[in-house]
Amino acid sequence: MSNLLVINSSSSGAESVSRLLVEDAVAALLKQTPDARVVRRDLGETPVPHLTTASLAGVRGTPETDAHHAARALSDELIAELRAADTIVIGAPMYNFGLPTPLRAWFDHVLRAGETFSYSEAGPKGLLEGKRVIVVESRGGLYSEGPAQAIDFQEPYLRQLLGFIGLTDVTVVRAEKIGFGPEARAAAIEGARAQIAGLTRTAAQAA
Ligand SMILES: Cc1cc2nc3c(=O)[nH]c(=O)nc-3n(C[C@H](O)[C@H](O)[C@H](O)COP(=O)(O)O)c2cc1C
Repeated sequence: MSNLLVINSSSSGAESVSRLLVEDAVAALLKQTPDARVVRRDLGETPVPHLTTASLAGVRGTPETDAHHAARALSDELIAELRAADTIVIGAPMYNFGLPTPLRAWFDHVLRAGETFSYSEAGPKGLLEGKRVIVVESRGGLYSEGPAQAIDFQEPYLRQLLGFIGLTDVTVVRAEKIGFGPEARAAAIEGARAQIAGLTRTAAQAA
C-alpha cells in the first residue's frame, strides 16, 4: 500500500486556492491508487511552532529540558511522516515573496543532520530517496515569467529545501495572478487543474 502525505500551509481556509488544488491533486492520486493511506498536516490551521531559545537544542543539539524534548518529539514525528510517504503533496502559497512561516517552521523541524541529510567530505547528502513531490504554488502575481521572476524567493527556495534532504523528484503546479481579478483567478485555477490532470495521466501511462 502506498502512503500519501498531504501538507497545507495556507492561512486562508475555504478561500484558499492552494487548498482547492491540493485536494484536486489528492483526488487524482487516489483515483490511481485507491488504497493509498493518506496522512495530513495542516500547517495553516495547526502551525508547527517556530524554534525558540528554549526549544532549539531539541532539533539541533542534545535535548535536556522539557521544551527540548517536546521539540525533538515533534521533529521525530514529522520526519517519520516524511519517511513513510511515497508521495508528498505540498500546498505552498507565496507570502511576501517566500513561504508562509509555518511551512518554513516545518522545514526547520525536518532538516535534521543524521536523519534527513548528512555531511561528508563530498558535501551534504540528502537521505530521503525515491519519493515523489507535487508542490502546488499559489501567487497573487506573476513570477514564472517577466520582471518579477528575479524576486521569486518561493519556488527556488522550496526546491533547495526539498533537494537538500534528497527530495529531487519535484513537480510544481502553479496558480499565478490570483490577485488580478476573478477572471484571471478562474483561468489560473483552470490552468493548474489541467496540469494536475496531465500529471496523473503521465503517471498512469508510465505504470
Ligand atoms: C500574508 C500574505 C502575503 C502575500 N504575499 C504575496 C507576495 O509576496 N506576492 C504575491 O504575488 N502574492 C502574495 N500574496 C497573495 C497570495 O499569494 C495569493 O492570495 C495566493 O492565492 C495565496 O494562496 P491561498 O489562496 O492558497 O491562500 C500574499 C498573501 C498573503 C495572505
